[in-house]
Order: sequence, then C-alpha cells, then structure tokens
Amino acid sequence: MLGRLFSFVIVGLLLAAGAAHAQGKPELQWFAQSAFKLTTPGGKVIMIDPWIMNNPKTPPELKDLDKLGKIDLILVTHGHGDHFGDAMEISKKNNAPIWAPAGLNQTLQTLGLMPANLTPRMNKSGTIEPFPGVKITQVHAEHSSELLLKDPTTGKDTTYLGGEPVGYIIQLENGFKIYHMGDTGLFGDMKMIGEYYKPDLLLIPIGGHFVMDPKDAAYATKLINPKMAFPMHYGTNPFLKGTPAEYKAAMGKTPIQIVDMNPGDKKTF
Ligand code: NI
Repeated sequence: MLGRLFSFVIVGLLLAAGAAHAQGKPELQWFAQSAFKLTTPGGKVIMIDPWIMNNPKTPPELKDLDKLGKIDLILVTHGHGDHFGDAMEISKKNNAPIWAPAGLNQTLQTLGLMPANLTPRMNKSGTIEPFPGVKITQVHAEHSSELLLKDPTTGKDTTYLGGEPVGYIIQLENGFKIYHMGDTGLFGDMKMIGEYYKPDLLLIPIGGHFVMDPKDAAYATKLINPKMAFPMHYGTNPFLKGTPAEYKAAMGKTPIQIVDMNPGDKKTF
C-alpha cells in the first residue's frame, strides 16, 4: 500500500517535471565577467562571450569545455580576450557558428583561423533567426574591439581589427527578451534601445574603468527600463572595482528587479 502510494507520488512528480519542461523557461548560467550559457525555452543552447578557461572567477569545476554539453551557437560582443575567450575552440568542438562583429569574423576568416560557415557575418541593426522563434539583433555599444591573436605565420602576438563592438537583443521562443550589453560606456541611444526593443532582462557591465561604473550603470538601467537587471563584468581584474552592492545602492528604490547570481549559478526566468 505504502509502495503504491510512493509510486503515485513519483509519477506525480515526473508529470510535474514534464509540465515544467514543456512550459520551457529560459535558463541562464553565469560563468563570471560577461560569460553566460543560455538555454532557450525550446532547448537551444547559446554561449555568450565565453571567456572560461582563463577567467579567474569561473569556478574550477566549470573549466572544462567538453563538459559544457551541446552548444548550438556562440555570440561574441567584441574582440577583447575577456569576451572572445574560448569562442573558437567551443565553435570547432560543436560545429556551432560564432556570431560576432562583422570585422571580427572577417579577420578570423582571412587569417585562416576559422571556416566561413562557422563565422557568418552580420552588422548592427541586423537580425538573425538561427532557430524557429529565436531572434537575435546586434545593437550599438560604446567601446573598442581590438583582437589580439598569434600571427599564424610568425607565431607573434599581433593586434588585428575586430570590427565594432556590439550588444545583443535576444528574443526567445516565448517572447522573453534579453539585452546583453557587452562592454559599453554610457550613450544616449540606450533609451531608444529600451523603448524600441523593450527587454525583460538586462545584463549590464558595472566594473568601471573600461566600462560603466555602478553609478553610470544605474543611470543606464533607468534609461533602458527593463523588468529585471543583472550586474556583470566586475571583480576579474584590479581595474574593475565596481560591485553589485554599489550598483544596488545607486539604483535606490526602483520597480526594476535586481537579479543576484554568483559565478557558476543557474537561474530560470
Ligand atoms: Ni572590452
């Protein structure tokens, strides 16, 4: 009798789990800095700015590219090493395309480092639909995009053109919209991007020095006016001094929900 009751409970739990999966909520896992693994409601997996192996804040147990699981697509916001990171290796392991600033992918192709089919090109305001119901748009970011690579012929560290830095508006199958800002300083068109794309979740850099500091980021968050905001890109080097506590203090009383995550954490939205 007890055994039978137990199996009813198990079946009930399995059905509930199945329903939750069918409901399909987006899941984000943060690898620190600006690196995320995004699982869409339809089960597609997107790596964003995948700086993992040399990222000092990525938990050691996550530093194995073979354990990332199947990756369907990679988004890179600009050429700096703490964003471009392990993109080429992940792309080759999974036969997954890298979408990046056009000039960055052009450089990878002309150096013979990546095949054309894995480095397609788009540019700002361009929108791709890589999977049914998933739309990704490149938008402006106020930053730079030098690409430091070893010259394939001489083996010397060389600085190449990495196109112009971008942010991404990622619209998922259920309509949920994420705005990953990449690295950026403040710019007035953030307000327009907020009004036009209406992001649900904002991923915003707060470290300062190379990007917005917490005060700038709070101002930017209010310009964009998302439902939720997650502060990123801090604490990985001595220049990136801004903290989530300073960002929260600068936000003050606000209806915008500030998301808490530690490196390695997963969260559904
Ligand atoms: Ni940068």
